[in-house]
Amino acid sequence: MRNLDRNTITEAVLARHAAAADPRFKHIMTSLVNHLHAFAREVELTEEEWFKGIEFLTRCGHITDDRRQEFILLSDVLGLSMLTVAMNNDKPAGCTEATVFGPFHVEGAPHYELGADIANGARGIPCLVRGTVRGAAGEAVPGAHIDVWQSDEEGLYDVQHAEIDHAQARGTFNADAKGGYHFRSILAVPYAIPHDGPVGDLLKAAGRHPWRPAHLHFMIKAEGYETLITHVFRSDDAYLDSDAVFGVRQSLVADWKPQPDGSYLVEYDFVLNPSRP
Ligand code: BEZ
Ligand code: FE
Repeated sequence: MRNLDRNTITEAVLARHAAAADPRFKHIMTSLVNHLHAFAREVELTEEEWFKGIEFLTRCGHITDDRRQEFILLSDVLGLSMLTVAMNNDKPAGCTEATVFGPFHVEGAPHYELGADIANGARGIPCLVRGTVRGAAGEAVPGAHIDVWQSDEEGLYDVQHAEIDHAQARGTFNADAKGGYHFRSILAVPYAIPHDGPVGDLLKAAGRHPWRPAHLHFMIKAEGYETLITHVFRSDDAYLDSDAVFGVRQSLVADWKPQPDGSYLVEYDFVLNPSRP
């Protein structure tokens, strides 16, 4: 196969994938090549522009390490993470909606008794969080495993502080026999996603801000139910309609109520979807 030109190269590349053993891989690669080539044709991509693209991806790779994941950020700001979440989390009405996972979850966060304070030194206004975990038919989900993480009052997660080597403002719990949960933490605040790298440059070039509305992250697991990855947002946040990563769902917005002692209270009841057979 020689003398390929702008009209024949796409078919030639696709033909090279014809022998791929995994049909799903073949389907995805075929579509990816088709769309990439169509994109290059549509914008009449110059060699200089594509080299800039390669440089951008290279910078994403160089800045990524155990504490920083620029490719997740890229997927998030392009809406690809939320599109994937939306396509894969159709649930019956009444079930809690899913949203973006984000790059700041840490496997193996400390396990606490209900009522514990997960701040563990993180700075912020004290906040009590409580509610229930139920199934779609209203049944309690006793012992549901609840994994929660959030930023501090500076808008930074523990893993973003180079000097912090232990878990702060994150932890796991088991719901009680009635599906109830409660724990202490700190008030969630709006924060800017990391924008000192290539993804930040992309946002700037697009005239976009890097802010996310205040939220708490939850991942809830229970036998017989689909795992739920979601947030609870603050109803008084200025960024609810312009989240940098497109993650806001109205059903996930709650009132965080100031208390007489200066602390806050937020209540949120989760509804899990039974596992599909
Ligand atoms: C987060 O909420 O932790 C997050 C999500 C997407 C990108 C950056 C941060
Ligand atoms: Fe977050």
